[in-house]
This record gives sequence, C-alpha cells and structure tokens, in this order.
Amino acid sequence: MNVPDLQTVAIDLADRSYHIAIRGSIFDNPLSYSELPPATSALIVTNTTVGPLYAARLQAALQGKYTHIHTVTLPDGEVYKTWQTLNLIFDALLQNGCDRKTVLFALGGGVVGDMTGFAAASYMRGVPFVQVPTTLLAQVDSSVGGKTGINHPLGKNMIGAFYQPLKVVCDLDTLKTLPPRELSAGLAEVIKYGPIADLTFLTWIEANIDALIAQKPAALAHAVKRSCELKAWVVEQDEREAGLRAILNFGHTFGHAIEAGLGYGEWLHGEAVGCGMVMAAHLSQRLGLIDAALVQRLTALIQKAGLPTTGPRLSEADNAGRYLELMRVDKKAEGGEIRFVVIDGPASAGVRTAPDALVREVINFCCA
Ligand code: NAD
Ligand code: GLY
Repeated sequence: MNVPDLQTVAIDLADRSYHIAIRGSIFDNPLSYSELPPATSALIVTNTTVGPLYAARLQAALQGKYTHIHTVTLPDGEVYKTWQTLNLIFDALLQNGCDRKTVLFALGGGVVGDMTGFAAASYMRGVPFVQVPTTLLAQVDSSVGGKTGINHPLGKNMIGAFYQPLKVVCDLDTLKTLPPRELSAGLAEVIKYGPIADLTFLTWIEANIDALIAQKPAALAHAVKRSCELKAWVVEQDEREAGLRAILNFGHTFGHAIEAGLGYGEWLHGEAVGCGMVMAAHLSQRLGLIDAALVQRLTALIQKAGLPTTGPRLSEADNAGRYLELMRVDKKAEGGEIRFVVIDGPASAGVRTAPDALVREVINFCCA
C-alpha cells in the first residue's frame, strides 16, 4: 500500500505554538510523543467505542515515558458532552493523584477532544494535553486551534475555554474503523475550507471526492494537511475569535440550530454543518453576494459527500420561527441579533446580519 510520508503542519501562536503530525501508524509509535515535556503521569481520555479499539495501543506507546498511565472511558455521544461527563475526567484526575504536570491525552473524536481540552484548561487551572483525533472531523478541525468545551441544554458549545494542546497526532489509519456516515460528516468540515478560503482546494475536493470516500491514503493525507494548514492560517491571525476566525463557522449557525432542535446526536455535527452550508450559501445568494452557480456547485459536492442538503423540520407550527429562535442562542449573536457567516466572494467569507424575513425565505426554501 502507498503510505504517504509524515506531514507536519506548524501552528504558530508564540508560546502556545505546536505541531500537527499527519500519517498512518503514528499514534502508537513512542517517537510521536518523544519531544513532550517530562511528567510522572498521563491520563488517557477516551470513550466506550474508541477505547476498546485503541487505548491499549496508546498506553503501550506511552509506557516508557510516564510512570503512571491512567485511562478514563466516557460514554459515547454528543448527548454526553455535558458537565456530568466532564466531571468523570476530574474524578479520574483526583482519584489518581494527578498533579500539575500530568498530561491528558484526548483519544477519540471531537466530543472527547473538546471535553478533554476543557478539563485540561481547568484542572488545577491548567495542565498540558495532547490531541490524538480518531475521526476525520477531529483531524481536520476540532483537534486544532484550541476551542474546547461542552454543550448546555439551551445551546451547543456554550461553556468552554480557548486552550491549545501541546501537539496533535493525526493517525490516518484510525479512520479505517470509522463508520462511513462519520467519514461523510468529517468531509463537511473539509469542504467548508474551500468556499471560505481556497477555491483551488474546493476544486481538488470535487475531483477527489470518490477517493476520499474510498479512504485512498494519498487523498486523505492531502485533505487533512490542507485543512490543517488553512485552519492554522486563520487561528494564527485570530486565536480567540475577535473577528476572522468566525469564518470557520460557515454553515454552523443553521447547523447548530438543527442539532439543538432535533436533539443532540440525532443528526451528526458534520451532517448539520453540511446542510447548514447549503442554507448559508442560499442566504449569501439572496443577499446578492454570490451567484446561483456557486450555490449549486456547493450543494452538489455536499450531496456527493453523502451529506443531507435538505433541512429537517424543527416545528410543525412555525418551522422558520423555531430555527430563528434557536439561532439566537449562538456565540456570534450580539444583542439577540443573529450574525451569519456568508460567502461574499471567491474564497472569501464574512459575518453579516440579515432581515428575519429573508432568513425565513431561505429556511422555507431549504427545509423539507
Ligand atoms: P464524535 O466525537 O462523536 O465521534 C463520532 C463517532 O465516531 C463517535 O461515536 C465516536 O466514538 C466514533 N469514533 C471516533 N473515532 C473512531 C474510530 N477511529 N473508529 C470507530 N469509531 C470512532 O464526533 P466528531 O464528529 O468527531 O466531533 C463532533 C464534535 O466536535 C462536536 O461536539 C462539535 O461541536 C465538535 N467540534 C469542535 C470543534 C472545535 O474547534 N473544537 C470544531 C468542529 C467540531
Ligand atoms: N471550528 C471552528 C473554530 O475552530 O473556530
């Protein structure tokens, strides 16, 4: 099999800089962790699906480095991205006498990564952590850039912290056990980078979508590397989302409403983002920012990636009203006014408000 070379993406954030390593067969190689600072103990945070597949192999790779390696296994699912589950990580840290130098290893998808990062940000006011993402979505987006947190019943990712990992280890081989639906969900976040930042990449994804779905190693390696480079480019300019970083939320305002409105876990995050991008593209067109051809192009690609392009109904009585209500609980909202990420040119995005009537038109047009 053609094994791509080790790829490295640097993320330059002054004293919070780190590297993203990308290749197959690296998560259980001790060399992947050799440059990490010394510590007595490590805690592997994983879940009931990923743990049985990979935790023992990660533990073996860390054996020579830490005297004590503990594991905490969380319940699996977006629905468990809560305070109660977060507390299981704190329980494990305290019960095992973990100290300020203890390194947390997030072994799993974005849910495990976001929760482990938040636990690392707050345990003893901050301990180091390493991301070992095992979903495509986590490898191309959530493990990079330091957004960590949990959901609240009233809003997604509403509680959290910006906190950067020491390193990200993206092992492409772990994707072999990922269900196809989860791979498609990850492709949504890969596609996202095209219209907001890199039309050449969008064209490359269109040409390689079948290779990505078939998990061809060279295609996967390029998709993960280019996505990480584009995310690094944005995060380096705006680590704490004062402005530019919001473009990474293209499709997410509609998407978060879908996730919250249906109940977390009903649609996968990436599925909601995929459909949300279709809705945000229609909004961009109705605001006069892009033409119908780009909307069609994006919709076709999202569909080819195996993602939904028609929004679900969130209310029989007033579907658009329910979307609007949910979208007002968004971190980009200001004074109750919803702010949307829109495409406003070739490979260019910005944040705009839009009249409720126009947003209603888009929702009515895009929903079942
Ligand atoms: P997830 O973490 O729920 O993982 C998806 C499913 O795949 C889970 O059932 C998981 O157990 C399973 N899984 C993971 N790796 C596997 C493997 N190698 N083999 C078999 N099964 C595996 O979901 P996700 O899509 O990875 O992440 C979504 C989450 O990420 C959301 O909570 C979202 O809010 C968050 N997110 C965060 C950021 C950020 O910047 N922090 C960005 C995007 C998304
Ligand atoms: N996934 C959006 C961000 O990291 O800002």
